[in-house]
Amino acid sequence: MIFEQIATGGCQSYLAGCADTCVAALIDPELSQIDHYLALAARDGLRIRHLIDTHTHADHFSATRQLARQLGVPVVMHRASPAPFVDMRVGDGEMVAVGKLRLQVLHTPGHTADSMCLLVEDRLFTGDTLLFGATGRTDLPTGDPNALFDSLFDRVLKLEPGLGIFPAHDYKGRQASTIGHELANNPRLQKRERAAFVAMMNSLNLSMPTHITEALRTNMSGGKAVAQLLAEAAAAVPFMSLAELKARVDSADADLIVLDVRERDAYEAGHIPGARLLPRGQLELRVNEELPDPTRRILACCELGQVSTLAAFTLRQMGFPYTVALDGGMKAWREAGYPVKPGRVA
Ligand SMILES: [Fe+2]
Repeated sequence: MIFEQIATGGCQSYLAGCADTCVAALIDPELSQIDHYLALAARDGLRIRHLIDTHTHADHFSATRQLARQLGVPVVMHRASPAPFVDMRVGDGEMVAVGKLRLQVLHTPGHTADSMCLLVEDRLFTGDTLLFGATGRTDLPTGDPNALFDSLFDRVLKLEPGLGIFPAHDYKGRQASTIGHELANNPRLQKRERAAFVAMMNSLNLSMPTHITEALRTNMSGGKAVAQLLAEAAAAVPFMSLAELKARVDSADADLIVLDVRERDAYEAGHIPGARLLPRGQLELRVNEELPDPTRRILACCELGQVSTLAAFTLRQMGFPYTVALDGGMKAWREAGYPVKPGRVA
């Protein structure tokens, strides 16, 4: 097996490939690492044929849907997954064939109802069912400590003790462990009575993962994360630096329209000299009257540089091909000591 492990913060993704047939499965991919995965697969001479999420993730943005579109290959999840875009739903006891590799599905609910582990050769991809020195939490949507107890003690921990485990998380930078090692040393697995285990899981009092709302929304629906929208816009628009804009403002560049897309009160409190106001919320509906000449060069600016990137992207889509975004925002402009002009809109 050709094997790669890719960490994103505490999240772990795995590329498992068949050396004979040059195909691979990518397990628990994260949105920000798409280019990294594709580059690794190319370096290893592999084509990714399956995109697998071990469960509905609440703490990171899954890349399965975007990669599925890009590569034309199926998203694989357990049949209990709520995500409508899953192409291949699998159940306990089934196998995913990746060239000559066989990824055997164990349904292991508990962390979530759709959690599964994947057994291939001498490795078990445990998702968030079993972690190094811990288990997945059971206090997020569809979590169930009773089910986790059964999944661990009736299923996972009865597997071969020498089996290597490869969890979806590792916050402590550990690289390797086995079923046997966890059984002996994992503090949470020392509670082997159901009631004690459930009581322990119910009293962990963990803080909520950051971005949980957005992660669940996007992972369950296939919708886009804010960072994804911003990255797509930023990849499709050119930028102008603060210093370049300052030079153009100083030389009274008549060719450039500076479009301030903040709200009126922010604009009136202080804007770049010569800037026009067109709030982002009114952009589409007012471009015809405000920007009658689509051949002009337009620079969008906002407070922090994100909304202006989205606005510039929208303007380009609407047929203003010379729109750019300010690389930075009014906050950085003011901090640079560049001129701002207060004043009411006529
Ligand atoms: Fe998880």
